[in-house]
Amino acid sequence: MSLTFDEATFGALNAEGYDEGILPDTLEDSVALISGLAGQGRVLEFAIGTGRVALPLAARGHVVAGIEGAPEMVEKLRAKPGGEALEVLVGDMAEARVPGEFSHAFLVFNTLFNLTTQEAQVRLFANAARHLEPGGSFLVEAFVPDLAGFTNGQRVSTKAMDMESAMIEAATWDAVNQRLDMQRIHISAEGNRLVPLVMRVAAPPEIDLMARLAGLMLEHRWGGWAREPFTADSRMHVSLYRKPAA
Ligand SMILES: C[S@@+](CC[C@H](N)C(=O)[O-])C[C@H]1O[C@@H](n2cnc3c(N)ncnc32)[C@H](O)[C@@H]1O
Repeated sequence: MSLTFDEATFGALNAEGYDEGILPDTLEDSVALISGLAGQGRVLEFAIGTGRVALPLAARGHVVAGIEGAPEMVEKLRAKPGGEALEVLVGDMAEARVPGEFSHAFLVFNTLFNLTTQEAQVRLFANAARHLEPGGSFLVEAFVPDLAGFTNGQRVSTKAMDMESAMIEAATWDAVNQRLDMQRIHISAEGNRLVPLVMRVAAPPEIDLMARLAGLMLEHRWGGWAREPFTADSRMHVSLYRKPAA
């Protein structure tokens, strides 16, 4: 049986404690790369969350707007310094339209995969293209799917453990829909807590094809935020797509 997720579910489950949780240690490099790409134009973040990336960009002087599915995440963003000043639209990033045009847009931290069907991911790219001015760029960061560790369509792994607690991740793999259904199971003396997560994963060539359907062409692919080369050993990619100049 598969889990049910919509655009608000991740934030409703994770907003509390999101900024104190396990986050990438690449924030400085992410902000530097996006800032360099953005130039002087308006910047749009799809799934802006608590403003982890958008707020440091705004602090550098960029005009940043965002789309976010979960009001709980936006509430966290608003409570931070500079958070009230950002234009944020609450809605589904595959559909919601922020007025005006943007020179650069981005979708980071594997969040493309939070759209749980290929159809929704295709619509996301069309929506990104719709927001970009001619010549504008769209950056996507995602992990490279790796099914090592799955046996008979399932995997159980230990994510953290100490003398009082353990965090176990149970996952099932649906090869037909390229879908991972996961439960993060937190076990401690205070009780047990389940945090579900659904991801529809896609390898880089499929992502490039979705971009191409929207008229966006791959310009660069790095294996990390410090512009490391992308190789067969890369576990993640930072990919830059461009809308043709008019
Ligand atoms: C992993 S967090 C990333 C947040 C932020 N971009 C960051 O890097 O910290 C995923 C975010 O995507 C949002 N989200 C998930 N599905 C969405 C959708 N369909 N439309 C808009 N936001 C969505 C969640 O609410 C959450 O804020």
